[in-house]
Amino acid sequence: MERLVEIEKISFEDKDDVSIRPSKFSEYIGQENIKKNLHISIAASKKREESLDHILFFGPPGLGKTTLAYVIANEMGANIKVTSAPMIEKSGDLAAILTNLSKGDILFIDEIHRLTNNIEEILYSAMEDFRLDIIIGSGPAAQTIKINIENFTLIGATTRAGMLSNPLRDRFGITFRMQFYDTNELSKIIYLASKKLNKVCNNEASLEIAKRSRGTPRVALRLLRRIRDFAEFNNEDSISLKRTLEALNELGVDERGFDELDLAFLKLLTESQNKAIGLNTIAAALSEDERTIEDIIEPYLLANGYIERTARGRIATKKSYDLLNIPFKNLF
Ligand SMILES: Nc1ncnc2c1ncn2[C@@H]1O[C@H](COP(=O)(O)OP(=O)(O)OP(=O)(O)O)[C@@H](O)[C@H]1O
Ligand SMILES: [Mg+2]
Repeated sequence: MERLVEIEKISFEDKDDVSIRPSKFSEYIGQENIKKNLHISIAASKKREESLDHILFFGPPGLGKTTLAYVIANEMGANIKVTSAPMIEKSGDLAAILTNLSKGDILFIDEIHRLTNNIEEILYSAMEDFRLDIIIGSGPAAQTIKINIENFTLIGATTRAGMLSNPLRDRFGITFRMQFYDTNELSKIIYLASKKLNKVCNNEASLEIAKRSRGTPRVALRLLRRIRDFAEFNNEDSISLKRTLEALNELGVDERGFDELDLAFLKLLTESQNKAIGLNTIAAALSEDERTIEDIIEPYLLANGYIERTARGRIATKKSYDLLNIPFKNLF
């Protein structure tokens, strides 16, 4: 079965994504705390006519980090240049990007935890003093050239705050942790997107999709697109609850939004009966990449109390045993 979320998206978005992506705070649903804080920072920096402080977003994939970077650029009236750490291979690549920035530009670096050390070091002086320190040559003949660059704002996004080096993390003035969305927020996102896609999704249908989206807008929108195909196929102008339920059933998404991989993961943990299982064992048993498990499967299950992470590995909670109808023996 096709996974509804993917880990790697070197090319950032497909065409549909761009057309339904919100560009203003007023269209960006949820993350209220982040929006409130950003609103203040943006207003203040506009008043001072300074560039906005560097911002770091972290949180699981598909929660709207990239989208928020675009919203900020739009609200600041600034240009945004978008790149991703794996695309910056040599220090020269980053130097070229930085020297081409104009005053007030926003540079968005996705997956920022994947920058190599020597590239990261170039960012330090760029972020702090808007200056590039480039070392030419090596050994005693090595020379440092200093190049001034324009004041810019770096927005970094990462699914792994823990993998960011301390010096880099410290250079961000503002850090935000993205939260999973609640059902009401997701259903608003689904409704607004369905209007943009010209197949309005009624309230009941939006809520049903929202419940099965694992708190994640990207999952919600992906489901919406698939359900839209079902409506299209049946020559319907709008999306009804009936069609939604049929499609979700066909797609194998259960009432909580868990698919086969989520369930296999929980089953594996419950079978061990309170014995913690390490990530590498889980990955091998499920034939999945460790990163997929850590970045995509686990965050939602952790946030919703289905599993716990201990020093020895992962453990299923009573909630998982109940979900799978397996008797829970508390051995502690
Ligand atoms: N708060 C929101 N309101 C409306 N739509 C949203 C919101 N957050 C995300 N979306 C939509 O969800 C999709 C995924 O968002 P986005 O690409 O910004 O996630 P991300 O956090 O950058 O993910 P990744 O870590 O995988 O890069 C986009 O199509 C975007 O339009
Ligand atoms: Mg992104």
